[in-house]
Amino acid sequence: TENELLNWQLPLAELHCHIDGTTSPALALRQARKYNVDISDVTNGDQFLWGNFSQFLDAYDRIAALFRDEADHKLLTFDYLKQLSEQGTIYSELFISPCHAEQSGLGAEHYVEALSTAAIEAKEAFGIECRFIVTGVRHYGAEKVTAAAKFAATCKAPLITGFGMAGDERFGDIRDYAAAFDIARDAGLGITVHSGEFAGAEEIERTIDSLRPDRLGHGVRAVESERLMKGIAEQGIVLECCPGSNIALGVFPSFEAHPLRLLKDAGCRITVSSDDPPFFKTTLKREYEIAAETHGFTEAELVELTREALCAAFIDARSRERLL
Ligand code: HPA
Ligand code: ZN
Repeated sequence: TENELLNWQLPLAELHCHIDGTTSPALALRQARKYNVDISDVTNGDQFLWGNFSQFLDAYDRIAALFRDEADHKLLTFDYLKQLSEQGTIYSELFISPCHAEQSGLGAEHYVEALSTAAIEAKEAFGIECRFIVTGVRHYGAEKVTAAAKFAATCKAPLITGFGMAGDERFGDIRDYAAAFDIARDAGLGITVHSGEFAGAEEIERTIDSLRPDRLGHGVRAVESERLMKGIAEQGIVLECCPGSNIALGVFPSFEAHPLRLLKDAGCRITVSSDDPPFFKTTLKREYEIAAETHGFTEAELVELTREALCAAFIDARSRERLL
């Protein structure tokens, strides 16, 4: 039952969460006061205000712009890892965006330094393990995404272990981003890309063919093609499913209509994550609860979600073994 699950100490792991998207409305207000910025059109202090995906992306950028120096980024990251560990999380992989940081006046090297310090301190304080995925923003264009990939490939920060792309997947031609992903893959970084959240099966296929990702951000619209689901299952591409995000953004009309179970039954490797938790009024724990309560995941299947996340994590073999 619901209560048993809430009280149950299941270790959680998450692969898909955007660091600026972990900002609570309360923290956003504090930052806005600090920098004397009016954000009354994107939050009422209780929740974030947006109506569709484009408005969400705008609100996300406005909130990201409230984090300007090392201390701001460190505070945000440490605070989120603390919240995660309070939910029983043992591993978190965070999408970080040097491009957003630079827009807000902080150089990429300093940005990564601040985030890494937060991760190290959180590990000391709570035992939670964390890695970072440098993320390009698709609708900022291929040139900026390539710059992000070059930074990720050369920065030598030990906690940066992946490269990804977020943003509006309806923007541009995915093939224009292949060069950026080649740079990241050649540098030994794990590869994930947002695809199949708003675009359908054909775009997911093109994305797999041109970027050769290890994982797909969302990927849930693969459910529209039996052939594609089979291909994803056979290639072992891991799906970073975020049901709460998908429902909040209207990708599916209800939790019941979310294809989490269908994708699993088709043999796809699935994991659950929170994406941008306060924006979508969710938490990582809530995502596990959705799997259990709406999709009938048994205790063993919930444990399997965590195992799958750890197996698909962009982390060195020795650290993975310690977590498994
Ligand atoms: N989708 C795409 N891009 C994003 C998201 C998302 O949910 N959150 C932050 N950037
Ligand atoms: Zn996302």
